Amino acid sequence: MTIKNILSNMLIKKSPDELIAVSKKSELKKTLNVFDLIVIGIGAVVGTGIFTIIGSAIQGGPEGVGAGPAIIISMALAAVACVFSALCYSEIAAMIPVAGSAYTYTYATMGEFMAWMVGWILMLEYAIGNITVASAWTGYFAQFLKGFKHILPDFVNNFPMWLRNDYRFMYAFCDKYGLDPHSQMPFIFDKIPVAINLPAIFIVIVLTLLLIRGVKESTRVASIMVGINLFMITSFIVVGAFYVKPENWVPFAPNGFEGVFMGAFIIFFAYIGFDAISTTAEETENPQRDLPIAILGTLVLCTVLYVLVALVLTGTVPLNQIDTQAPIAHAMRMIGKDWFAGLLSIGALCALTSVLLIYQLGTTRILYAMSRDRFLPKSLRLIHRKYRTPHVLTWIAGIVVVVCALFMDLSISAELCNFGTFTSFIIICIAVLILRKTEPNRPRPFKVPFSPLFPVLGIVTCGGLMLYSMKYLTTSSLYFPLWLVIGILIYVTYGYKQKRLEEKNRLNRLAKIAKPDKVEK
Ligand code: ALA
Repeated sequence: MTIKNILSNMLIKKSPDELIAVSKKSELKKTLNVFDLIVIGIGAVVGTGIFTIIGSAIQGGPEGVGAGPAIIISMALAAVACVFSALCYSEIAAMIPVAGSAYTYTYATMGEFMAWMVGWILMLEYAIGNITVASAWTGYFAQFLKGFKHILPDFVNNFPMWLRNDYRFMYAFCDKYGLDPHSQMPFIFDKIPVAINLPAIFIVIVLTLLLIRGVKESTRVASIMVGINLFMITSFIVVGAFYVKPENWVPFAPNGFEGVFMGAFIIFFAYIGFDAISTTAEETENPQRDLPIAILGTLVLCTVLYVLVALVLTGTVPLNQIDTQAPIAHAMRMIGKDWFAGLLSIGALCALTSVLLIYQLGTTRILYAMSRDRFLPKSLRLIHRKYRTPHVLTWIAGIVVVVCALFMDLSISAELCNFGTFTSFIIICIAVLILRKTEPNRPRPFKVPFSPLFPVLGIVTCGGLMLYSMKYLTTSSLYFPLWLVIGILIYVTYGYKQKRLEEKNRLNRLAKIAKPDKVEK
């Protein structure tokens, strides 16, 4: 087999018509309106980013400086990067209204190799992103328990730190307070530190079991969760506004442009999830009008909320005292509103649990689609006899989060998730440009305005933020290419061969159908 053959195999595409024909068989009802779509969007977007990560985006972490109160500029920057990709998502989602998101769109535009890579990269967004959400869950769970410290037994109040954090956090903590790590956590053979985030592991296992039982997502449930989220965030803004001291906003940008750009990269995590809206294209009453309105509406609404939260947070708590584990609840404790901090923790736990659930489900769905396309073994998509759910894949998705949570902390997993999502956004912008050339006459219910300028700006803003942060975030910048290399190896050693086998079988089947004709002649 020549290199040319191999390359042309890697570029084999699925035709958009084939995808649309398959989706039409799904008989999904077109019932969603613009309000439902915004509810879905906010449900998938509002979570760890605004409840937890905002703390490190303001304060900075071990590998990057923080934005300080200038986080509001970072938020606007991150939102701009999202808007261009959001428009591109809208164009493709309205044109090829099938489920599967970026993985499916890439299959239709760039062929099998890129489709596999996008699916693999989406695992960073969903599965690795969930390590961040699970770690953040622990932070708010601890804050929630603090509200009951008078009635809880001693072992809960003094739960050892090494049983609720990962080892990287423990080292950073010891470093910060000049403590000997050996005094804070056990070591195997005096060398390997033992630190396990038990609450994070617990919630992931509970949700995995729940997903195996089958969880019916409905916009009704989503709207309740979104209602609680929005109520809690709005109350934080309203209550906190009375305690804002403008002197806390000075210096506004303690780390200059570097802080603002790094802050934009980190807080980008808070915007991830609006792409979930595009996956509902098949069920939308009027995708042409509603998808773009909902996607852009979600982005605008979240940006306004986020900026207000950031103004209140940085205005009420002095910069060096902003917490990085549960900053919103902690801010309320700082102004003596312990009861309100407890309530906020419940709200945050609801928000984080729903994001965890949606993302675990997303991981499983994408893996399922990839396995159906033969990129992964068929045995993985076994369906549970009783519950009719892909239980093997659901367990795998859960175990990946649990195992990776042992050696990745909240920041590393969030950075990796951002790298993955930025990459998939860039690919979607490229896909729009390709489809404009290859399928110029296909009906486009929604068109990105000012193309090719807007898709190109999407590529430049997402790529720019990603490359800029790679300069500083040395650990995740190392893990990211490693992740890509592992993906390429799996494709070369498994996926590529399976796809050729599939093709051979298809040709054999066609030959068998053609044979009787020959006999007749
Ligand atoms: N945007 C989602 C969150 O902040 C991923 O949790």
